[in-house]
Amino acid sequence: MNPPASDVTSVPGSRLRCINCGNVADQAEQDFRCRNCGDLFEVFYPGWSTSSGTRASGLDAQALKQVWHDRKTSIAPSDTSGVWRFRELLPTLKAGHEPITLREGNTPLFDLPRCARSAGVDRLQAKHQGMNPTASFKDTGMTTAASFARQEEFRWVACASTGNTSASMAAYAARGDLRSLVLIPEGKISWGKLSQSLDYGAVTCQLRTDFDGCVRVLNELVRRTPVYLLNSVNPYRLEGQKTAAIELLEQLSWEPPDHIIVPGGNLGNSSALGKALMEMKDLGLISRLPRLSVIQAEGANPFFRSIREHGGKQLIPTDADTLATAIRIGNPASWKKALRVLEATQGTVEQVSEVEIALAKAEIGSDGVGCEPASAVTLAGLKKLVGQGFVKRNERIILVLTGHVLKDPEFTLKFHRGDLFVGSPHEKEAKSLVPQQRAPFVLDAKLESVIRLLEDFDTKEPS
Ligand code: F0G
Repeated sequence: MNPPASDVTSVPGSRLRCINCGNVADQAEQDFRCRNCGDLFEVFYPGWSTSSGTRASGLDAQALKQVWHDRKTSIAPSDTSGVWRFRELLPTLKAGHEPITLREGNTPLFDLPRCARSAGVDRLQAKHQGMNPTASFKDTGMTTAASFARQEEFRWVACASTGNTSASMAAYAARGDLRSLVLIPEGKISWGKLSQSLDYGAVTCQLRTDFDGCVRVLNELVRRTPVYLLNSVNPYRLEGQKTAAIELLEQLSWEPPDHIIVPGGNLGNSSALGKALMEMKDLGLISRLPRLSVIQAEGANPFFRSIREHGGKQLIPTDADTLATAIRIGNPASWKKALRVLEATQGTVEQVSEVEIALAKAEIGSDGVGCEPASAVTLAGLKKLVGQGFVKRNERIILVLTGHVLKDPEFTLKFHRGDLFVGSPHEKEAKSLVPQQRAPFVLDAKLESVIRLLEDFDTKEPS
């Protein structure tokens, strides 16, 4: 058996800092809110720079790149994880504690040639975080936060979710021998995601409310009972999630793209990816910052409105509604962190309609990649950003696809059967989707029927 690839050197540990009042702590309350002002914490690493402004030993950019590269041939669990492989930039577990890992991360970067043509750009790539073990990006943050929950000897972990966090949490809790409690909005998450949390053994509660209502109940619960909160207000989640950006830059040979485009729901992911970009720049791993832009669904657009209508000074919660149920969120917890990322990277925010999302999802599918509806906002948003001249045709662009196409097969089937928008206010606009629809054919079990169908096709769509 290979020995684990060595660490660069041990780097001084991490602490928590409030993003609003700067209060520094080593341990947070169970709701992960600052005791002074109630805002969110972020993880920071006091040892990364010294008072004289020089970088701590163990953080030499070339040495880090080399050791991360070398770990790819190791079979030690913390090296095969696409998150813990980058552990020099993560909080450290205490001696004797191993991470709970399912070999998360390690996700592919795909070219999307058809989507590039449709968006009017020369080249387009997607980092597919739906290729994680439970088929969404949540696994990269769950491996870190669930590992800390186990280290702190919690028996129960819990989350409120639109379906992916809960699927991921349930899996990692099961692997780590923890009990898990899921709060999800009744009838507003996909069956695929619900079935995952059942199979992984979570205690699953469908509450008669929306995601924001589930968050409210959960926050009250964690203040009363010893339950470890695994929503993205937990800063250890974001530390794991940030490694997707590190892995992406490694895949790009550390040459930063011009744009990274991310869906926005609770805004943890954009905050995490942006944090990684800023840290990589500070540590000299990359020479410049890509612009990180966030796309929301029109029906769940509080962050878009906060920036466009209030200059980012306040966020007014909205009643969210979109078929992209993963991002059906009206009161995003991490909006201040995401705002900071947009400002630091000079990114922007856009919103896209339900029909634009459906079209973009089918286009991503037509490149043989596929994703769930929430991920498709990235392509729909890119088209708008190209139209506005914010993204130039010859720039290097990465879409972050957050969930797998099989997460929400009902949406896909309804789309192709032409049922998705029947009876909705979008019915007329949805006529434009017909050329993308590929409903299944029901035929007699006869060779001639199949041949006739192929001939018909070749006549209608000559290649
Ligand atoms: N894409 C997918 C597939 C998601 O599941 C989510 C969030 C997002 C995008 C938005 O990411 O919240 O970090 O801005 N899903 C959460 C959940 C809220 O409970 O699964 P965000």
